[in-house]
Amino acid sequence: MQIKDILQLSPESQSVIVKGWVRTKRGQANIVFINLNDGSTIKNIQAVVEDGKIDEETLKKISTGACIAVSGTLVASAGSGQAVEVLAQSIEIYGTADETFPMQPKKHSLEFLREKAHLRFRTNTFGAIFRIRHALAFAVHKYYNDNGFFYLHTPIITASDAEGAGEMFRVSSFEPNAAPKNEDGSVDFSQDFFGRETSLTVSGQLEGELGAMALSKIYTFGPTFRAENSNTTRHLAEFWMIEPEVAFYDLEDNMNLAESFVKYVIQYALDNCKDDLEFLQNRLLEEEKSKPQNERSELTLLEKLKFVVENDFERLTYTEAIDILLKSKPAQKKQFQYEVGWGIDLQSEHERYLVEKHFKKPVILTNYPKDIKAFYMKQDEVSDATPGATVRAMDVLFPGIGEIIGGSQREDNYEKLMTRINEVGIDPENLWWYLDTRKFGSAPHSGFGLGFERLVLFVTGMGNIRDVIPFPRTPKNAEF
Ligand code: 4AD
Ligand code: MG
Repeated sequence: MQIKDILQLSPESQSVIVKGWVRTKRGQANIVFINLNDGSTIKNIQAVVEDGKIDEETLKKISTGACIAVSGTLVASAGSGQAVEVLAQSIEIYGTADETFPMQPKKHSLEFLREKAHLRFRTNTFGAIFRIRHALAFAVHKYYNDNGFFYLHTPIITASDAEGAGEMFRVSSFEPNAAPKNEDGSVDFSQDFFGRETSLTVSGQLEGELGAMALSKIYTFGPTFRAENSNTTRHLAEFWMIEPEVAFYDLEDNMNLAESFVKYVIQYALDNCKDDLEFLQNRLLEEEKSKPQNERSELTLLEKLKFVVENDFERLTYTEAIDILLKSKPAQKKQFQYEVGWGIDLQSEHERYLVEKHFKKPVILTNYPKDIKAFYMKQDEVSDATPGATVRAMDVLFPGIGEIIGGSQREDNYEKLMTRINEVGIDPENLWWYLDTRKFGSAPHSGFGLGFERLVLFVTGMGNIRDVIPFPRTPKNAEF
């Protein structure tokens, strides 16, 4: 039985076996208290060893980090905090841990824990984060399943660059330096495993669209890879993305879906991860104490999550957002590091100004300039900017995070799509299968991608994306 279930039992002198890792052992002359955790909950269970019950040799070998099984009787706890505890009758040691075990019971910095990422699971903080991550992943599937979507598995190895941004990791079976060459010196991929150049996927969208053009409502949820060399607290080289794609949805339907979906999964965490969220909230409150008053956040973690669930997201066009940014009163001489003007790709400082200072709530920005967005987005015929200059794009921006979702209505007109593909210099030969959906029974459709780790960052209140994925992949970091 897991500790989370044992803690719910009534203490009517039941016999129990508790298995877990020792968090602390406190000894007194005639009694020893051992706190055990098995990861099923943030809560520990206390094993009480009365004088003489367990032999000295065994007791001596038990220290922080060891893994043990305690057999005994569940009794009402005399101490505060926990309703029940275990009176030990026998203890089996599965594995000892000496004093070099890095997760000793004291506060460790997140940097230290990142260096010990193989053992950081055994801390309260990371236990809480990964239980919440699990709950959010489960809620994602539940939301889509309950709303008539089919989970479509799209390939990890692909021959196309879905975003056209050239940030792909190559996949090849050639030995280093032994790749066969063409006469002009370029690599001869026809002799490679797949007979062509391939990479790890940057997005399952294009394949997802094929599914939506038959199953109507699909979603993907899988790892995606980007070789962008950005060492930030918001970027990973390997991250998980959720990408719904829906036939017959326009941009507004797409925004409604995004808002309803994000609110649902956050509410799910609020309903199902109370202990873990409260733990992380207290951790944040502790951290904030060292900050000056004006840098502390106005809302606690739980208040912030409830606020997002209970309030409408602000919706406005890119052009309207640029106006707001241009009119923003410069607090200092220079408000923004990057200059603002119509046509710029919004930098995170601009996004954060809109979300955190101006609207103080999540924002959905739409109708971006065509030139800064991907080739597949549907062109606006009517627009608040120059007609034809914008596309039916939407980005959802979150406080403390910036962009959490990117999506659009898709260009469903064959000729317009072809023109755009040629304009941006993509070889249509590589996308013949994608173009076929616009030739045979094309339909209006829309979709988006939610960066799963950015969602987990928001819900846990953590500050660095490396701390919300079990095995972060970032530049120079892929040891295990
Ligand atoms: O805006 P992006 O690039 O959109 C797409 O890939 C579309 N094909 C999605 C679609 O319409 N189906 O990425 C979507 C989201 C971003 O908003 C962000 O949350 C996340 O993916 N993301 C990253 N998360 C972590 N590390 C990175 N390097 C990320 N790049 C994007
Ligand atoms: Mg984007």
